[in-house]
Amino acid sequence: MKLLPKLPNAIAYGGDYNPEQWDPAVWQEDVRLMREAGVNLVSLAIFSWSKLQPNEDTYEFGWLDRIMDLLAENGILVCLATATASPPPWLSVKYPDVLPVDASGLTLHHGSRQNYSPSSPSYQRFAAALVRQLAERYRAHPALAAWHVNNEYACHTSECHSADSAAAFRVWLQKKYGTLDQLNAAWGTAFWSQIYQTWEEIFTPRRAPHDRNPTQQLDFRRFTSDAYRHLFRMEKAILNELTPGVPATTNLVWFIRAIDGRTWAPDLDFISWDCYPDPLTGHAAEHFAAVGHDVMRSLKKDRPFLLIEQAPSAVTWRSINPPKAPGVMRLWSLQAVARGADGIMFFQWRASQSGAEKYITGMVGHGDPAQSRVFAEIKALGVELPKLAPLLGSTVPSRVAIVFDWSVCWALDLEAKPARLDYPGWASELHRYFYERNIPIDFIRPDAALDGYALVVAPALYLLTQKDAANLEQFVERGGSLLATYFSGIVDENEHVVLGGYPGHLRRVLGLRVEEWIPFGEGQGNALQFTATGQSSPVTQWAEVVHLEGARALAQYTGDFYAGGPAITEHAFGRGVAYYLSAKPDNSGLTSLLDQVVAKAGVQPVLKTPPLVEATLREGDGERYLSLLNHSPAAVSVSLAAYRGTELLSGTAVSGQLTLAARGVAVIQLHS
Ligand code: GLA
Repeated sequence: MKLLPKLPNAIAYGGDYNPEQWDPAVWQEDVRLMREAGVNLVSLAIFSWSKLQPNEDTYEFGWLDRIMDLLAENGILVCLATATASPPPWLSVKYPDVLPVDASGLTLHHGSRQNYSPSSPSYQRFAAALVRQLAERYRAHPALAAWHVNNEYACHTSECHSADSAAAFRVWLQKKYGTLDQLNAAWGTAFWSQIYQTWEEIFTPRRAPHDRNPTQQLDFRRFTSDAYRHLFRMEKAILNELTPGVPATTNLVWFIRAIDGRTWAPDLDFISWDCYPDPLTGHAAEHFAAVGHDVMRSLKKDRPFLLIEQAPSAVTWRSINPPKAPGVMRLWSLQAVARGADGIMFFQWRASQSGAEKYITGMVGHGDPAQSRVFAEIKALGVELPKLAPLLGSTVPSRVAIVFDWSVCWALDLEAKPARLDYPGWASELHRYFYERNIPIDFIRPDAALDGYALVVAPALYLLTQKDAANLEQFVERGGSLLATYFSGIVDENEHVVLGGYPGHLRRVLGLRVEEWIPFGEGQGNALQFTATGQSSPVTQWAEVVHLEGARALAQYTGDFYAGGPAITEHAFGRGVAYYLSAKPDNSGLTSLLDQVVAKAGVQPVLKTPPLVEATLREGDGERYLSLLNHSPAAVSVSLAAYRGTELLSGTAVSGQLTLAARGVAVIQLHS
């Protein structure tokens, strides 16, 4: 499926374009340079509200008309923003209910961006009016290719406690629970004298003397994701009405905890996301990106996604912000394509001269572009990308999935746990095993259709409904392999403990009972020993006292009062097998376990490659494309095994052994 109907045969290439920050004389230079760089799409007007609407009764589109026309004349398409992410100062002065309020009751003012409460009726009214104006004005404009709704929802304002938010929260709760009795039961309000007698007594979880009600907090996070989704839907409905057929997206960021991308995905016409790996983290950076691409691609498995923002080089919002080394921008861009992207875009086209982001590298910088390494690399990539057009619309098949659920993350984030667990971190660590072995992998929710998968890995699936547990159990029963890890199946959707023994509804499929959790402090731990090989592996952070109820131990603890107790188990169940990892072993222990699980599940890598060479496959229209990405700063030789085909970037036939330059990439259209 094509990402943008108006870009039928091209990888999208471009960036955020903020011409309102520049004198119109610069615009001509911009489009000239865009053409030179092969730019075919820009995200326009993302933060233009105050320029588009100087007061309540006036809209000024003249400047945007001119820039839209100029781009169209130059064959550059526009992903036009709805400009609602940064309300103008006049709006919050005249309608102060627009402003968000934090958990302490402190109002967050204008003077930055995202200065709005998602539940403010004034914000919603004015945002909807602006979107209608924009859609009516540009509905037939030849440059309009897609809509960029708002910007990074909830990135800065991750929650709002205003009176409007409290009122909207109550409505959300009434819809969910119907009666106060049901709410009181779900929230467990008999604890600490919290029983509610009227709806008006209920507020958002504001700052309180001590730990706040966990279910209230969990519902508030669900509400917040829904409140922002309501805004997206509000804008999308207007766009659908006035510009049917023009796809709309919003730029997601997978690790922004406030937004549950899964519930949003059906409303987005295509997925787009902002990827900012930290160059300071070495090879962890490309793995960080791989996780994000896999999370985002999995939101709409049947179609490609758009990498809508990445840095041409440096950012400024970390404490130390080095540039991307030569070749890295190209390598990471092609990595996105390899993992399912049909478009590569940047923040931003031209580096700002003023404002908070002026030192974030632009595609065009502060100096002469002809003398800029970054611009030279941008131009070179612009020449190469069209060669990858055959990949357009192809997808990334995968037989392994990681269960990742924002409800679990939110529940694990709550106070008062045996220990703080880094859920996204643990999921990423498990993903790394598959990433390093070129095994394609998706991220799914526990209620997903699992039939196409051979192996499902469920890290710390702390919150799990009975229905979702049954989904996992049936998957195993039908022949699938499930690997669940510690602290799974503990609570239901209300964050109430599933009684009768941990891990609750997973107990039957895993064939065991967990009696106690043993979280470790710094420098503490235990060790586990594999029964079959005698290999021993240190355990840190977490261990459990496990009793077998049908499963058999693959590894046992060697120390402490539970020495000899099962640490890793295997349970034949139905036609499949369920594994349980009750501890956090070191990398060698984790690798031994996963090697065994993967081999038994019959999962194959795309290709065995030398370290730091990533291999992926995309498939579509009966064609297959093998990408090889050399993340090392030295050339490397890769055996293609039985693969042969045409390398699209060089146009040469390849088979046998292939040499990849330092940070080099090959994209091979395979011959069957
Ligand atoms: C985010 C935002 C952009 C910009 C960049 C800077 O991704 O969406 O508007 O602030 O970060 O890195």
